[in-house]
Amino acid sequence: MVNEMSERADDGFQHRLVTVAQAVERTLASLLGDPLLPGEMFRPVRLMEAMRHASLAGGKRLRPFLVVETAGLFGAQGEGVLRAACAVELVHCYSLVHDDLPAMDDDDLRRGRPAVHKAFDEATAILAGDGLLTYAFDVLADPATHPDARIRADLVLALARAAGMGGMVGGQALDLAAEKAKEPLTHDEILRLQAMKTGALLAVSVRMGALIGGADRAQLQALEHFGRVLGAAFQIADDILDETGTEEQVGKRIGKDADRNKATLVRTLGLEGARQTCDRLVEEAIAALVPFGERADCLRQATSFVASRSS
Ligand code: IPE
Ligand code: IPE
Ligand code: MG
Ligand code: MG
Ligand code: MG
Repeated sequence: MVNEMSERADDGFQHRLVTVAQAVERTLASLLGDPLLPGEMFRPVRLMEAMRHASLAGGKRLRPFLVVETAGLFGAQGEGVLRAACAVELVHCYSLVHDDLPAMDDDDLRRGRPAVHKAFDEATAILAGDGLLTYAFDVLADPATHPDARIRADLVLALARAAGMGGMVGGQALDLAAEKAKEPLTHDEILRLQAMKTGALLAVSVRMGALIGGADRAQLQALEHFGRVLGAAFQIADDILDETGTEEQVGKRIGKDADRNKATLVRTLGLEGARQTCDRLVEEAIAALVPFGERADCLRQATSFVASRSS
């Protein structure tokens, strides 16, 4: 697997995305297997099934791809990078399980399959999300992820900040509050909400790759800008797909944002305006990669993919 991943030479973006997704799948399957880790007492079968349902066999694996490709800019690769990539995916999968709960977006379809609370039950879905979230930090803190304890602590801190109250969780709170707000959110409020609920995890994927790679200050700054702008484009594309996609393609119910009065740029700018904004952000993200030259070609292609994807 590591050899497969190091064949960087003329690998096209699609091939890289598939290769990384396969490696992520294998690593996640192994992390969520039956063997106990030191200190664990028992892994309850139904809980494990729900955690596997939530995180295996599905998804674009874009966040792990960003970790792997950003670390790759600096020549870092291998098992530890993959583990860090999986940690972000575990947080992402937990966020999807909880996002779909009846108390939140009340969605029954995810990645073309029943949402966890449908395939199992609500309490199991809540616990599966809790389990995935906690495990992400277990994976990061384990010396198998990086030999340097300072880097591991930096990774833990970065992911915690991005996932928590001032990041993804905070963004989800704003998203739900906006559904019921008397006054519609302003453009800037929507941008902040989206930067938090979605942008934070995408941006931290890039940041974690850069931390593992040993990026210097200027490189870190350029990559952080890239990650933030990419994250903004990503959520607009998700909102556009909610209007224009098909359930078969996106693997989740569509047309739900308008029904639930979600605060999106599609609602405030219209489809065409949202598309233009997304295109502008893609250009800005690609421009942020200039300092990395050709080495960043895969990240450039990933950026265009984010805006043009159909799932
Ligand atoms: C969906 O994310 C949730 C959002 C943050 C918009 P993805 O579109 O990356 O979902 P998967 O992982 O491919 O299923
Ligand atoms: C979800 O945004 C963001 C997180 C899960 C943090 P959405 O609610 O728009 O995502 P989908 O459309 O259900 O995937
Ligand atoms: Mg939501
Ligand atoms: Mg949702
Ligand atoms: Mg959506």
